[in-house]
Amino acid sequence: MAGASATLDSPMTTEIAPAPAPVASPSPRPRIFSGIQPSGAPHLGNDLGAIRNYVKLQWEYEAIYCIVDFHALTSLHDPDALRTRTREMAASLIALGLDPERCTLFVQSHRPEATELGWLLMTVTPVSWLERTPTYKEKKQQQPDDVNHGLLSYPVLQAADIVLYKASLVPVGKDQAAHLELSREIVRRFNTLYGDTFPEPQAVFTESPIVLGTDGVRKMSKSLANTIDILAPPEVVTRQVMGMVTDTKRILRTDPGRPEVCNVCQLHRFFGDDFEEIWEGERTARTGCVDTKRLLAERIIRHYAEARERYAELMADPVRIGRILDDGAERARPIAEATMAEVREKMGLR
Ligand code: AMP
Ligand code: TRP
Repeated sequence: MAGASATLDSPMTTEIAPAPAPVASPSPRPRIFSGIQPSGAPHLGNDLGAIRNYVKLQWEYEAIYCIVDFHALTSLHDPDALRTRTREMAASLIALGLDPERCTLFVQSHRPEATELGWLLMTVTPVSWLERTPTYKEKKQQQPDDVNHGLLSYPVLQAADIVLYKASLVPVGKDQAAHLELSREIVRRFNTLYGDTFPEPQAVFTESPIVLGTDGVRKMSKSLANTIDILAPPEVVTRQVMGMVTDTKRILRTDPGRPEVCNVCQLHRFFGDDFEEIWEGERTARTGCVDTKRLLAERIIRHYAEARERYAELMADPVRIGRILDDGAERARPIAEATMAEVREKMGLR
């Protein structure tokens, strides 16, 4: 993966003038794209690992963000749940700072060109590339009774999402690194066969590209039930944080803690400038794990207080969310149509 990703502090992503509204013609600024599954309201890993970058980058780039309901169907076969979670994710993204005037926010299935392009890209993607994808292997284990074809072709549709908008940067968490690598391989293959068409997309990571869950060992993930649900009622956040696993070698209150391996201490980095002081308290056993967790819970609740209010307001106004998402799909249309016309021509379909 060397050289294939950037963080916000790399020279590549700084000092770039604000982007205008999306247009069909090539933009002088790099275009960014990211997709997020409609998993309901996001967890702390989603925010620290990706959504913070979505918010920041919308001011610097031409940003397009998509709630990927087609992808969600590979693991969810409940129409009502899919609809509800899509709305919750849209409200959450706006509540957390996406400005629908500034970026383009839409639902994947509202711009169906991605499925056509997904098929076309499948014809240049060897099955062996997909079978070796780590997420496919994980999913086969997680849902052995539902190893559907969508799970295998998932990364091809993801590549289609990105290249449909000719995006060159993709803000994501580190768990998406292999998918981005595959997208690049597909792009190279396409460009070799049909002529230079798509830029090779690069992942953009935050400073916390992998956030561990409340168990302290595995990636924070809804499917592992180890999340901190940032927009949930304060009592839920408190319960989740107070249940976190800390340094497992710190048995007695008087034992010194090891902040380097304690997930609670690591998360304090993102909720105050005084984390080193907090770490020192742990190292010297001046503070106990319970104190450190209580403080983290308070800070997370305070940090997301405004977003929680905005989220509740938006969820009470489904018409507004619907309008924002419809507008987003319309703004994405000319770019998607222009790419498809070019691709069909190049592949001999016109
Ligand atoms: P998903 O809900 O899987 O669509 O994830 C949405 C975004 O959040 C993707 O960019 C993921 O890479 C990112 N993400 C999800 N879980 C984590 C985590 N535990 N740590 C960091 N980033 C994450
Ligand atoms: N696979 C991504 C995830 O699980 C979601 C996704 C779909 C995506 N299409 C994308 C991410 C395009 C970035 C770009 O989080």
